[in-house]
Amino acid sequence: MTARARQLKLGAVTMGAGGPGQHYLWLDPEIPGDASVNVDWYIEQARLAEAAKFDLIFIVDSQFITPDSPPHYLNRLEPMTLLSALAVTTRHLGLVATMTTSYNDPFNVARRLASLDLISGGRSGWNVVTSGDAGAAANFSREEHFDYDTRYARGLEFVRVAQGLWDSYEQDAFPRDRSRRTFLDPTRQHQLNHQGEHFQVAGPLNVSRSPQGQPVIFQAGDSEQGRDLGATIGEGIFTHAASLEQGRAFYADIKSRAAAKGRDPDHIVVMPGLRVYVGDTDADAREIERGLQLAAQDFDKALAELGRPFAWHDFRQYDLDAPFPQQALKYAERGFRTNAENIARLARDRDLTLRQTVESISSPRPTPFAGAPATVADQITRWFDARALDGIGKSVSVAAARAIGQQFGGQRHHALAHRWIELAASVQQRFERDQRHFVPRQHDEFHAVAERAALVGRNLHSDISAPRGCSTPMVRCAGLNTARATANTSSRVTLS
Ligand SMILES: Cc1cc2nc3c(=O)[nH]c(=O)nc-3n(C[C@H](O)[C@H](O)[C@H](O)COP(=O)(O)O)c2cc1C
Repeated sequence: MTARARQLKLGAVTMGAGGPGQHYLWLDPEIPGDASVNVDWYIEQARLAEAAKFDLIFIVDSQFITPDSPPHYLNRLEPMTLLSALAVTTRHLGLVATMTTSYNDPFNVARRLASLDLISGGRSGWNVVTSGDAGAAANFSREEHFDYDTRYARGLEFVRVAQGLWDSYEQDAFPRDRSRRTFLDPTRQHQLNHQGEHFQVAGPLNVSRSPQGQPVIFQAGDSEQGRDLGATIGEGIFTHAASLEQGRAFYADIKSRAAAKGRDPDHIVVMPGLRVYVGDTDADAREIERGLQLAAQDFDKALAELGRPFAWHDFRQYDLDAPFPQQALKYAERGFRTNAENIARLARDRDLTLRQTVESISSPRPTPFAGAPATVADQITRWFDARALDGIGKSVSVAAARAIGQQFGGQRHHALAHRWIELAASVQQRFERDQRHFVPRQHDEFHAVAERAALVGRNLHSDISAPRGCSTPMVRCAGLNTARATANTSSRVTLS
């Protein structure tokens, strides 16, 4: 990819009243207690992100809670319903919804995303997850959550079917010709007739081809199967990166997996979710960071939340001062296994008790992205240059940080809510300064590949080869501007 084409992407991640490890964010008097279900709060966040030239807003989601779930999880808006509201209150921001392939049907999801794409003028994106909350099964009339192999195989087939359904119509399928009384040109409507292992879907979809044709696909998964799925279908990859080295290793792994599948690695945008703390000065930011981390401290909550990756196994039943109970790993096959394995490995390698494991995971520690806006921008640029990331998913908790900062550090943190605008500006300046041609979103380029039929193993598109004869769509998804496949080929399509 040319230097011009490789541009940093900025994603805003919303956690309302507080996500994992943020059980007390809602105490902040400046955060509405109902932030996670307050559409006005979301609209404000989205507009703030748009003003700061963020590329997209990313809505996380899950289908199962316990009383120990964090506040945002206990009571939050359904992503697609929420994004429909944000679609009409923003103009450029990409709108990315998390939707699970384990507890949905491809027809419903494809229809919703195509609708959001129409409502937003081509800004919809889908974070494909398979769900790690085993308890969700009981909310969807299933006895048991899928194991890893099943859920990722189902996930891949799910995405392929959705993509096939999005090709139900060519762009000119609806002539709406009054003089000829012709609403639909049936030759430009295509059945899918998919018969697969997990899904049998006839199609066509009951919504016309959307502005993007194919909404942008994101994926987040760290297991072998998860990385493979991301390398196969992901245009954006969400991940976590605790250090530059870890970020580089993940980045290299995803890109090489994609290359091995015949994709151009530069067509995949890797975006780790970062906790960013911005202050007036570096020291100020570190103080804010520590204040926030200390405010979140609660051993009992951390002990309960430790259960989530292990399918909400209850660790409160164990002796806190005995070695970490490695046998709990067996529950993780239907949970967040990779995360559980990492925790168990940490405990084993360091010979930790259960108490020490909880403390080790939840204790305050300096993060790489705390500082004055210029410092953080430099750091992001360093990671970008080192190919540890192509973009960042930034928690919108900085606005929330303001109030906690005030609570713990006094009035001088007053301007925090708007520092991420400064940060975004600083990042952009870095890119201009280094003549790396940071290009504002509206002039951005992003390449998409159209190899999906070749990768699926069976040709889902054999009888649709869609969208035949449609003009090349010029699509903007807030920085992930994508010219979509216009035929069932392995050719790469580039937007100018
Ligand atoms: C940055 C990031 C964001 C994620 N967001 C969600 C989410 O919103 N909902 C969800 O069910 N899983 C989410 N996941 C979990 C993954 O999609 C995946 O199911 C989980 O990590 C377990 O699979 P793995 O072992 O392959 O990682 C997220 C993971 C990452 C790394």
